[in-house]
Amino acid sequence: METIPLFKVHMPESVADPLLETLFSGFIGQGPKVEEYEQLLSKYFNNQNVVTLNSGTAALQLSLRLANVNFGDEVISTPMTCTATNMPILAAGAKIVWADINPDTGLICPKSIESKITEKTKAINMVHFGGIPCDIDEINNVATKYGIKTIEDGAHAFGSEYKGKKIGNHSDFVIFSLQAIKHITTVDGGLLLCKKADDVKRAKLLRWYGIDRDTPRKDFRCEENIVEYGYKFHMNDISAVIGIEQMKYVDDLVKRHISNAEFYDRSLKDLEKIKLIPRSSENLSASWLYTMHVENRDDFMQYMADNNVATSKVHERNDKHDCFSASKCDLPGVDAFCSTQISIPVGWWVTKEQREYIVKLIKSY
Ligand SMILES: Cc1ncc(COP(=O)(O)O)c(C=O)c1O
Repeated sequence: METIPLFKVHMPESVADPLLETLFSGFIGQGPKVEEYEQLLSKYFNNQNVVTLNSGTAALQLSLRLANVNFGDEVISTPMTCTATNMPILAAGAKIVWADINPDTGLICPKSIESKITEKTKAINMVHFGGIPCDIDEINNVATKYGIKTIEDGAHAFGSEYKGKKIGNHSDFVIFSLQAIKHITTVDGGLLLCKKADDVKRAKLLRWYGIDRDTPRKDFRCEENIVEYGYKFHMNDISAVIGIEQMKYVDDLVKRHISNAEFYDRSLKDLEKIKLIPRSSENLSASWLYTMHVENRDDFMQYMADNNVATSKVHERNDKHDCFSASKCDLPGVDAFCSTQISIPVGWWVTKEQREYIVKLIKSY
């Protein structure tokens, strides 16, 4: 029996024809396909302010820039995430200040955030770990009180909903990743959704060296004055054409993640050795991960591997890395969550038979 994987690339065969057409069209940079993809995404998120980029990490770096995070400023963040959430803060020359997390859910704690705010705090990063929405309203209320910008890292949360609205509509900046193993992929890619149209305008300049691509010029890129420096963060038409095709499948893919997660919620509750993550009835997790708590995690991982089911911690706490050592502090919630959290396969590729097999296996653990 082949191992049931924790992640799988979704690349439909139907992408082949449009991909080849764009590949040989003579235009493969940022062009009409990027615009078409942005329009589709705007419809999906019900938000006009969508900017496509070449990675989720680029989207985070750009949000920090738009949030006016500069050298010496502080950004409050969570260590319980992919290092990609936090490295852009260092790249901006700012200091990371860790807030603690809820030991049950792994999500950043609004009270801890408020206790870490100083005069230097410019932004708050919240991560919807595994797809579960953070306490967005509470965090935004704290941010508004102190005049601070908020960034949602929704890399795990494509299709998640907070209080009946898709993630992508609640904060100053929301980012998504379209990297290989996310719900949908453009091979590599990222999205930035902004609250304000002015931020979109600036983001579109900054993603391409600060150059306005829409103003007609006589000689290629020559006569325009660049007002502020930018990056090479834009998406290209090859990625966009893949993204356009993926949008035909996204609702079904997300539904399958959610259906598998709901099956686990029903089937694994009340087990002695497993503690499930509590769900809010107000919100919907797109369940990129299905994370739970197990006391003897190493034993459990070995048992699952012996029975051909992949499991993983997926992310290690970032504060253990030397590159983040300047931010060290006590984080009892992170200690507790990290000591038991583990994810099992939940994605669109997990069949009904496979999820039943996984449940049976866990019940007899
Ligand atoms: C939580 C989180 N944030 C950000 C990213 C970065 O996304 P990308 O790989 O598209 O740069 C990832 C990537 O896996 C992630 O898991």
